[in-house]
Amino acid sequence: MQAPLDHKPWTIKYQPRTAKDVQGHDEALTNIKTFILNYKNQEKKAVLIHGSVGSGKTCSIYAIAKDLNYEIIEVNASDFRNADGINATVGNASRQLSLFARGKIILVDEVDGLSGTNDRGGVSALSSLIEKSYYPIICTAADAYDDKLKPLKKICSFIEFKTLPYTSVYKILKDICSKEQILFNEMDLKSLARKSAGDVRGAINDLQSLVQDKKILQTEAIDDLGDREKVESIFNALVKIFKASDASIANTALDYVAEDLDESVLWIDENLPKEYTNPADLAAAYNVLSKANVYKGRIRRREHWRFLVYQTTLMTAGIAAAKTEKNREFIKYSPTQRLLKIWRANMRYGLRKEIAAKIAVKTHTSKKETIQNTLPFVSIMMKKNKAMKSAFINEFELTDDEVGFLIG
Ligand SMILES: Nc1ncnc2c1ncn2[C@@H]1O[C@H](COP(=O)(O)OP(=O)(O)OP(=O)(O)O)[C@@H](O)[C@H]1O
Ligand SMILES: [Mg+2]
Repeated sequence: MQAPLDHKPWTIKYQPRTAKDVQGHDEALTNIKTFILNYKNQEKKAVLIHGSVGSGKTCSIYAIAKDLNYEIIEVNASDFRNADGINATVGNASRQLSLFARGKIILVDEVDGLSGTNDRGGVSALSSLIEKSYYPIICTAADAYDDKLKPLKKICSFIEFKTLPYTSVYKILKDICSKEQILFNEMDLKSLARKSAGDVRGAINDLQSLVQDKKILQTEAIDDLGDREKVESIFNALVKIFKASDASIANTALDYVAEDLDESVLWIDENLPKEYTNPADLAAAYNVLSKANVYKGRIRRREHWRFLVYQTTLMTAGIAAAKTEKNREFIKYSPTQRLLKIWRANMRYGLRKEIAAKIAVKTHTSKKETIQNTLPFVSIMMKKNKAMKSAFINEFELTDDEVGFLIG
């Protein structure tokens, strides 16, 4: 009998339980611990932990808190939109010492989200929280040198998480493989670790999606990662959009994907029902997606490019904010076959129409007539005869794409 599939993300299943489980970062962890235990005597009342994405910033703080038996009060960047929001979340907790003297840490995760909102009030609300708090405050950021975070320099000590060498990532992956009883060869696992460039979360997610239902890491699967890279980036973007509880984090999700917006819509459309299992959330999310499509239509028809920002925001932050609860299961995303096919066919169809338009003008016929009676012959002549091909290219001013369509 096959073992049941494991739907818990391995990044959560295997997150460090204690500081000793955290790979690398020894010096940084010691500094964080010292800060927490001595923060009253420190000149700066907060630390800002910075370092590349997925390198273990958040999980390290939780591990240390557990070791010290401290409680964590987590604050989201969105709570800083206004002073009321932040006071409601930590207000009293940050000022009153608890009777049952269990230590508390205030965690402000991903403060770079503050800068993304273009909201200076956010950083100043954070600064005043730091000044008033009775408890140690730990902030995290991927990029600590963001201009908007400058005011924090005076009041926070900066602690860097250096990018992990691939050997440390390899150790983490190897440990997971042995616990999951996965067969692998060392070279393959090392190359997976190398590809991660220090992003442990990315590496673990890769591993889980490659071996999840097979219990064996196949060399070809790793080789395919070259091809998968494109999928990988849209995959990470989808995680950001679907799992983020903070809209400002989701907002930039599509900024670095290779896919264009039309293709990204299809990915979201295909995978949305797998993530949002609450029907009301699903309906709200599709409603947002349909609004994004309305903007898309207006951009196309009226060339209103300034609407592009609305389309992107709806597709990212809008979808993220449409949910009331996030799905904590690991979801394997898949590209949409049906819609992609239609979309590709439309692209080809569009190309055909454009070529026909160019030929129709010169031959004084209709586009329809050209498509039916002329194009097939133009295509054959171009394929068979080089001189004919260049003559047509010149005469009809065909682009490379159009030539590709005709002779492909
Ligand atoms: N140094 C590490 N040692 C062991 N596991 C790690 C380490 N870094 C990351 N992980 C694994 O990756 C997961 C994600 O790490 P985490 O969320 O702490 O990264 P992060 O630096 O906070 O990322 P982000 O910049 O996106 O907030 C953890 O739950 C853990 O499973
Ligand atoms: Mg984090």
